[in-house]
Amino acid sequence: MFERVNAAPADPIFGLTEAFKQDPRDHKINLGAGIYKDEKGQTPILETVKIAEQRLVDTETSKAYLGIDGRADYALEVQKLLFKPEHNIIANQRAVTAQTPGGTGGLRVLAEFAFKHVGVRTVWISDPTWANHASVFRAAGLEVKTYRYYDPLTHSMDFAGMCEALETIPSDDMVLLHGCCHNPTGIDPTFAQWQKINQISLAKGWLPFFDFAYQGFGKGIDEDAAGLRLFADTHDELLIASSFSKNFGLYNERVGAATIVASTATNAQASFSQMKTGIRANYSNPPAHGAAVVATILEDPQLAAKWREEVSEMRARIQQMRDLFVAKLEEYGATENFDFISHQNGMFSFSGLNKTQIEKLKKDHAVYIVGSGRICVACMTLKNIDQLCKAIVAVL
Ligand code: LMR
Repeated sequence: MFERVNAAPADPIFGLTEAFKQDPRDHKINLGAGIYKDEKGQTPILETVKIAEQRLVDTETSKAYLGIDGRADYALEVQKLLFKPEHNIIANQRAVTAQTPGGTGGLRVLAEFAFKHVGVRTVWISDPTWANHASVFRAAGLEVKTYRYYDPLTHSMDFAGMCEALETIPSDDMVLLHGCCHNPTGIDPTFAQWQKINQISLAKGWLPFFDFAYQGFGKGIDEDAAGLRLFADTHDELLIASSFSKNFGLYNERVGAATIVASTATNAQASFSQMKTGIRANYSNPPAHGAAVVATILEDPQLAAKWREEVSEMRARIQQMRDLFVAKLEEYGATENFDFISHQNGMFSFSGLNKTQIEKLKKDHAVYIVGSGRICVACMTLKNIDQLCKAIVAVL
């Protein structure tokens, strides 16, 4: 029967990693997937993670199943990071959180919940957005539409275009917002812009859905939550998919969360029960290890403080590479102005490189970047930056 199956196209992000692995050239550079590298070009295990893992090895006594929604202590730590520990959403039990396999798992669980139990039929995502968003939402049954976000001519946010689009969205629809470090553009709303988006959301009544995968990679753990917290202060209902892949470096442990904020604790519990039926029919219950590591760190004040320092170090290194990238492009003769890259947030830069240039980079220079022109700045190092900038200038 399988002769009926047509081959699928390669994934725009992980498909690139596959092609990179098969490339025999020694000098190859992969700036595809969003993964942090240190100066040695390695994706490190955080010191706090190593300490927590050692504690778990010493103290764990069972590998019995977790509940459908995972660990309750983890869920509480997730909510404290999202909203602040003292937020009344937590005190009034208006939020429910399920531990999910990565942020992607969180997106899918919430998308299915919105489609099946809230009756949402259409989700609006930014143009451009993360290459997997549309697939996740369509797989949950939703129709996907886009709102304007980016102006390629000025390499900046098309805020007027975004607001105009958001104003037209019907109240039964859902709108996906990137909490910080917009993927792929690296361009986030200012706080004043968040206030305007918040106002439109309140006036129109559509359901805001935050994808929050890079907390700490923009300006700081709390600073990056400013937009989300504004919504949390003013909205009765919200959905939030969050991830610890990046800020704990726990990529392959698949550790994320699906959070529903409801207007009352009763509505939150009813929603939680339905979200759990969805999880049970999907992957039954989440893998344990990553969430155990995160909970161990966040519940220990010393480890939590050390983790915040480690996140700051990663953020500072990325900013250093951004500035160096801009300087080196100029040094190697780029006539275009790339200063905008210094002001973008998070792991990515939206370079403005076109498809022909991207193809040439791969073919002639062994440099791999995503087809949209998204470059992973967190994968640049002092060792690869000269070769990279020379290659880019050569294809400009
Ligand atoms: C990325 O955008 O590169 C990462 O979030 C990895 C992924 O799942 O695509």
